[in-house]
Amino acid sequence: MNHLQGKIVAVTGAFGALGFVTARVLAARGAQVALIGRGAAPASAALPAELAQACVVDRVDLTDPRAAQDAIATITSRFNGLHALVNIAGAFRWETVSDGSADSWDRMFSANVKTTLNASKAALAHLTAAGGSGRIVNIGAMAALKAGAGMGAYAASKSAVMRLTEALAEELKDKGVTVNAILPSIIDTPQNRADMPNADFSRWATPEQIANVIAFLLSPEAQGITGALVPVAARV
Ligand SMILES: NC(=O)c1ccc[n+]([C@@H]2O[C@H](COP(=O)([O-])OP(=O)(O)OC[C@H]3O[C@@H](n4cnc5c(N)ncnc54)[C@H](OP(=O)(O)O)[C@@H]3O)[C@@H](O)[C@H]2O)c1
Repeated sequence: MNHLQGKIVAVTGAFGALGFVTARVLAARGAQVALIGRGAAPASAALPAELAQACVVDRVDLTDPRAAQDAIATITSRFNGLHALVNIAGAFRWETVSDGSADSWDRMFSANVKTTLNASKAALAHLTAAGGSGRIVNIGAMAALKAGAGMGAYAASKSAVMRLTEALAEELKDKGVTVNAILPSIIDTPQNRADMPNADFSRWATPEQIANVIAFLLSPEAQGITGALVPVAARV
């Protein structure tokens, strides 16, 4: 289970539902984990034992390229390098084209694409220096494969994350860095339970199930996978 022993992994969106569970799962598998979050850091007493040695970088707005660079610099100076970046920061908004605003499209692109792009660009030099085992894992969405009503801006932005994943995977093929994306459908989070109280939660992918696939993509066993868009949809 310790196949990430010694790997230094930065997780964005790490104070959110999927990000926090992912950080825990990666640390439990031996990774040295850095949590990047936009809000205030959780109190250290609130961190589970596996994250006791984690590097926590808070108040980072990843839509700002400089803030992304500063966060990555903090992590690389604390851990002396970086092997992997997991881009989980993102946002969702349901809004029809007829009733919605054009600004929502900018907001979705900022939250989902710019955050992923800025963190990736900040990390690239470190990942290519990681001795051929560099990794990026992004979060796309099943909903971006074919957009439903109200999903235009969100699906377009996640589609852009998926195209970014493919383009960067090609760009880095000879530089020792793999780039892949997970496509969740509906994740079993407190927010989704509150928004869809009558749904059958047991059909949804748990954050742990997604984190386990991320852990695999970060592992040496996944060296041969790049440019893949991996659905993790459980029974949705
Ligand atoms: N939940 C689902 O069913 C589902 C399905 C498919 C894909 N996804 C994707 O999976 C990822 C995680 O989802 P989740 O349910 O865990 O959402 P979440 O709990 O809202 O976590 C997302 C995190 O990203 C952070 N973030 C947003 N914009 C940021 C920015 N500009 N700079 C830095 N951090 C920023 C948020 O910070 P704040 O708290 O400060 O906003 C939040 O902590 C997202 O990319 C989401 O789009 C989710």
